[in-house]
Amino acid sequence: MDRGVSISPAAVGGGAWAVLLAAGAGERLGIDRPKAFAVLGGRPLLAESLDRLDRSPWVDAIVVAAAPGWEEPSILLSEELATTKVVSCVTGGATRAESVRIALEDVSEDAIVVLVHDAARPLVADTVIERVLGPLAEGFDGVVPALAVPDTIKRVEHGAVVETVSREGLFGAQTPQAFLAPALRRAYAGDLAGATDCASLVERSGGRVAVVEGDRRLLKVTTPEDLALVESWL
Ligand code: C5P
Repeated sequence: MDRGVSISPAAVGGGAWAVLLAAGAGERLGIDRPKAFAVLGGRPLLAESLDRLDRSPWVDAIVVAAAPGWEEPSILLSEELATTKVVSCVTGGATRAESVRIALEDVSEDAIVVLVHDAARPLVADTVIERVLGPLAEGFDGVVPALAVPDTIKRVEHGAVVETVSREGLFGAQTPQAFLAPALRRAYAGDLAGATDCASLVERSGGRVAVVEGDRRLLKVTTPEDLALVESWL
């Protein structure tokens, strides 16, 4: 496997580790580079979440997953931001779940908690990080920030509605998602097929996952319009 360069052999062990996922292609943005390097407020999108996680008192160490060929620019960005918690930058995999599995290999065996965050959600606030960590002390294996689905949900096939799904009890899951490190490792030791977030794998492996209030500003940047909206919130 083509592994990224270790930035600093930080003597970090236990505590809370953050995995920052920046290895997605982001084709729908229509740019010639990964989404993490789209420009947001005059700097790469990745800078916003990297800076915020690095300054968070809740985070002790960070592993970044970069797209193949984008490890060096990610490391340079980290140096420009003068981060102090980035331990390594790994080359991400073909899917989000594979990127997480690869990044987890660089998370210390002594880590107690792992936060997994999408770089595509730049505006990660300390208040949300604090919220997702809370239930881990109350017997939960994982915690997801989520927002109740406001729209009426339709299942559609070939342009026609086949079912209207009750939105009662439906939530849209965001990141950062927080996990007890052993529970997350157990989940990622199994089959990763079909996993679009980490919590689904923890649920599948028998873990208990709590939901806390998400944040509208944690919008995942997918289209140029999303990028403009997030920029307006900076
Ligand atoms: O593609 P999706 O919207 O699910 O991506 C969510 C996050 O996962 C993004 O921050 C993206 O960079 C990351 N990702 C990754 N490796 C992949 C695919 C997505 O790190 N192979």
